[in-house]
This record gives sequence, C-alpha cells and structure tokens, in this order.
Amino acid sequence: MSGIVGYVGNRSSQEILIHGLKNLEYRGYDSAGIAVSNEKTIEVRREKGQIQDLEASLQLDPILKGNLGIGHTRWASHGTPSVTNSHPLSDTNGKYFVVHNGIIENYRELRKGLVADGVDFQTDTDTEVIPHLLAKYDTGNYLDTVRQVLPLLKGSFALAIMCSTYPNTIIAISQENPLIVGFGLKEGFLASDISALLPYTKEIYPIKNNEIAMLTSERITIETLDGEPIHPKKVLIEWDQEEIDLHEYDYFMLKEIMEQPKTIKKTLEGKIKNSHVRIAELEPLLNQYEFHHFEKIDIVGNGTSYHSGMVGKKVMEQLFRIPVEVHISSEFSNEHGHLSNRNLVIVLSQSGETADSLSALKEAKRNDCVTIAITNKKRSNIARIADYMLLTNAGPELAVAATKAYTSQITSLILLTIFLSQHSDKTNAYDYTELLDALVQLPDVVEQTLIMTQDAIDSFAQVTNDQDHLFLIGRGLDYVLALEGALKLQEVAYLHADAYAAGEVKHGTMALITPGVPVIALATQAHLRGKLVSNIRELKTREAFVVGVTTVGDDAVGEVVDQVLYIPEAHPYLMPIVAAIPLQLLAYYAGTVRGYNVDRPRNLAKSLTVE
Ligand code: M6R
Repeated sequence: MSGIVGYVGNRSSQEILIHGLKNLEYRGYDSAGIAVSNEKTIEVRREKGQIQDLEASLQLDPILKGNLGIGHTRWASHGTPSVTNSHPLSDTNGKYFVVHNGIIENYRELRKGLVADGVDFQTDTDTEVIPHLLAKYDTGNYLDTVRQVLPLLKGSFALAIMCSTYPNTIIAISQENPLIVGFGLKEGFLASDISALLPYTKEIYPIKNNEIAMLTSERITIETLDGEPIHPKKVLIEWDQEEIDLHEYDYFMLKEIMEQPKTIKKTLEGKIKNSHVRIAELEPLLNQYEFHHFEKIDIVGNGTSYHSGMVGKKVMEQLFRIPVEVHISSEFSNEHGHLSNRNLVIVLSQSGETADSLSALKEAKRNDCVTIAITNKKRSNIARIADYMLLTNAGPELAVAATKAYTSQITSLILLTIFLSQHSDKTNAYDYTELLDALVQLPDVVEQTLIMTQDAIDSFAQVTNDQDHLFLIGRGLDYVLALEGALKLQEVAYLHADAYAAGEVKHGTMALITPGVPVIALATQAHLRGKLVSNIRELKTREAFVVGVTTVGDDAVGEVVDQVLYIPEAHPYLMPIVAAIPLQLLAYYAGTVRGYNVDRPRNLAKSLTVE
C-alpha cells in the first residue's frame, strides 16, 4: 500500500527513485510520481497506472536531472486514482513538495481552515493539506516549519518533504507508518521498506515516532520533535537482493509457493532440540509469567493471518485447558470482551504494519494484556510495540497473496503451542513426540506435495476457466483451509469462491448448487471423513462437480467425487499446511490462465496501513 522512496547523493536521483519504486510495486498502487531537484529547481512528474507509464512519460518528455528527489506509489484511499491525486503534492506557490503514506485523520477540519484562508485545493486527497500547512506556517526555516506543522496532523503517516529554498535537504517523518533511512557513502536513501534499499545499502535506520530525519549528501541527522539530537543505531539488513529477484519464475507468487519447503525449514531452524521446543526470544515471557497466570488466549489477525490464527485456535484449544478465541483485528480493536493482564494476546501479521492489527495490539496493550507478535518483519511497528516477538523467518514475501507467510505462521503457532505447553499444567495430557517428528518432516512433505500436485492442479485450473463461482467445503481444520483457499481464489483469479463448513451447506447454500457447479471438498482430517463423504453425496445428488482433496491411501472420498487429488499424509494439525499447497497452486494457475497479474491483483495492496 503506497510506497515512498528518497535519494540524495552524487548520482542521478531519477534512476534510483524509479528503481526503488519498482521494488515497492508489490505493495500495490495505482499511480506513481517523482520530484527531482537540481539544487535550483524542483520538477515533478506524476502518472496514473504503472511505473512503466511514468517511465514512458519521462522518456518522452524528460524532466531536469538532479541528485536529490522523492518518489511515491499511491494506493488510492481519498480520491480516485488519477494524475491529479497522485503524489508528490505541493502548495500553491510550489515551495513544498510532499509524498505521504497513511491517513491524515483530521484532514477535513484542516482543509476547512485552509479553504477559509483562501487556499484553492487541487485534489481530493487528505495529503494536500500538508504542503498548504507548511506554506501557511512557513517561518523561513525549513526544519522549524515542519516542526510547527507536525503537531497539527492526526493519524498515522510517513512523509518525505522537499523545499525549494533548501534544495539539498529531504526531511522525513515516520509516525506509526514505516519509513527507513539508508546510509551510503556521501549519499542517503529513504524507503517505505527495505526491498527498495537492497541494491544500494545494507545499513539502515527505521525512523521512529516523534523523530525527524534530515538527509543531505553530507550527512543524515535525526532529531526528536523537540530538537534533541539522536544518534541513530544503524542496523544491518539481513535480506539479500537475491531473495527479492524473480529468478526463473514469471511471478513472485509461484516463486513463493515453491519456496515453502525452504521457508518452513527456516521457521523451524534451531527451535526443536532433544524432543523439545526452544524459542529463545520467548524465554523472558515464561520467566515473567507462569503459563497458569493466563486465563485466556486471544489471537488476532486479518485475511490470511486471521486464517492462520483460526488454525492456531483449533490446535491450542485441543491442547490447553483455557479458552482460545480468534478475532478479526478490525473487529477486536473496536469491540471485545473483558481484557486484563490475564489475557495473552497473539497478533499475527506478516508485514507487521497492518493498521487493523496494529490498532488491535494497542487496544490489547491499553487493557494490560500480555502481547506476542508473530511476524515476518523484525523491525515493524507491530514487532516493536508487542511485548514479545516470534519471527516467522519466511524471507521477503512480495506477491500480494500470502502463501509462504501462511505456512510459516501456522508452523510458528504450532511451535508456540508446544513451547507453552511444555511450561504448563493447564494442558491436556498430550504426547508431543509424534507432532515434533512430523514438524521435522514437514519441509520434505511439503516438497513432495508440490511435486505430486503441481501438474494436476495446472490442468484443473484450465478447466475452471469458464466458471464464475466455486465452493470449497471442509470440516474442522479443513473448514479453515477452505476459507484460505477461497480467499486465494478471490484475490488472484477474481473467482467468486466461497467456503463453507461442510455440514452447513444443507442449511441454505444448497439452493445455489446446480448441475456442474464446481465444489472442492477438503478431506484431510481422517476422523471427520465419514461425515464429509455424506455431505459430498448430498452435493452429488444435486449434480455438483466435486473435486476431492484427500490423503494417499484413502479410498472413501475417491469413490464419491468426480475427480480426486491425493496429497501426502502428515500429522492432522499439519494438514492445513500440506493441503494449502494445491489450493495456492490452484489460485495461481486459475489467475494466470485468465491472464491476470497474480502478483498485483486489482484494488489490493500488500501491506494495509490504513484502517
Ligand atoms: O501483513 P498481514 O499479515 O497483517 O496482512 C494481513 C492481510 O492483509 C493479508 O493476509 C491479506 O489477506 C493477503 N493478501 C491474503 O493473501
């Protein structure tokens, strides 16, 4: 969702900005723009559509060459995607140029005040108030002016600002919305996330709330809003350029699906020893609280992270003797039951920046809950704010559709469950040996699943090409899996896919079942298979076209469905991971056969930093 880049140094900023924006494309956007300074003049170019459209426009009609600039990819939130609404935006006299991620929550009041002052607004955006406010409160000193304006802005925002009277300086702010400074040799970089910085530097500093960063080619300085100097503790990026390259793949989504044996191995790395789970980063939690301190576990997340959380809930509640509830983050942050220090709240977020989950986390903290973030981004806001963090270690996920993030989150949740039970008397008697062995085998099982299912799924996806609707059904953990499979198909194949608990179809949805309607029946949970087979028969009586997904060795499902896909058998708790593989592949092939860009589905963004 929207991306910011910035550059100051000796090189031509335009190339670096465009390259940086391309590395942020995965976040999702619908227009792009840059502002470049040659230390005398600032010139802006903005285009609706793709970065390629911006590049083409710059080639056709070049702007000035300069060594300083800011750039932006905009995901429309206030005002339609258009050239006019795209960033950078400036004040009436073209002194201040601003790119912005996030939302200025009080922009209506601010805009009203500015209109009363006679300001003529050009856009429908919330952002435009910022350059006009900078012009209004201009003290003649760039930094002071920014300091005057920041307290007027409410919301979460990252900003990069240029000023025509200080043409060698970029000012950057990160208020609950990520913005990272990159250090080079006589050059400085800015980016919403590290993927844009990887080709240039490994030394970074994520700007914190209430800090102002000033970037010139000579130095990068960080101060508090009150002017206290901060000595930024540089951190090293641990991801490599190699990890964000496509290699032989056409799309990141397929690359990331295929990476799962490796990423699950990374998630497990160093955590299972001598039939025990050790999670070093969570030891302090158990030093501070005995597990019996907790009366309830709440898991929060959105989209795929919510689905991982549902799997986590189902596993935890079978093993713990305390209630476990899973919540959609945006609901939890507004309404929830009683919370206290006795609630352990687990926030799941791949990006660690999802605004809904961030606000759920803050709500949990406001209510004294003990919080754990399970995230793929170590330096994200959610990781920083939560009391404890468990890193999923899946490496950069650049396709909008979450695939490896999902399997690594479930793996992490199962590790966490075992880890907590090892320290608890509030658990049901359960022998973990089998589950631990299965976890160790999991990367190989996933590898085998990829090999067994890829071709079959590719041909099934071709068959679904003329379908507009599809149903997925399952019981227990398979129902959660059905929800995730449906989300993937909606996202990347724009297919109206709906998931149902198999027993629920007869309570209404059956009216939609007409001859030939495709239904995917998930049957990975051996103990629930008997009832599922009856549900499949009900569908077959109405002539639905049923594809069964079951484990090798099961004959019951194959006998009642039109087509069957066999996957390897693993521990039942791990089947939502194994069986997710064919569903992810189905979404991928169904999307590509329809000619869609599966990495960047329409209207979606990777990291949703607005509520
Ligand atoms: O970064 P997060 O895990 O917090 O993101 C949550 C959802 O926005 C995300 O899982 C979304 O549903 C995916 N695009 C699904 O594939």
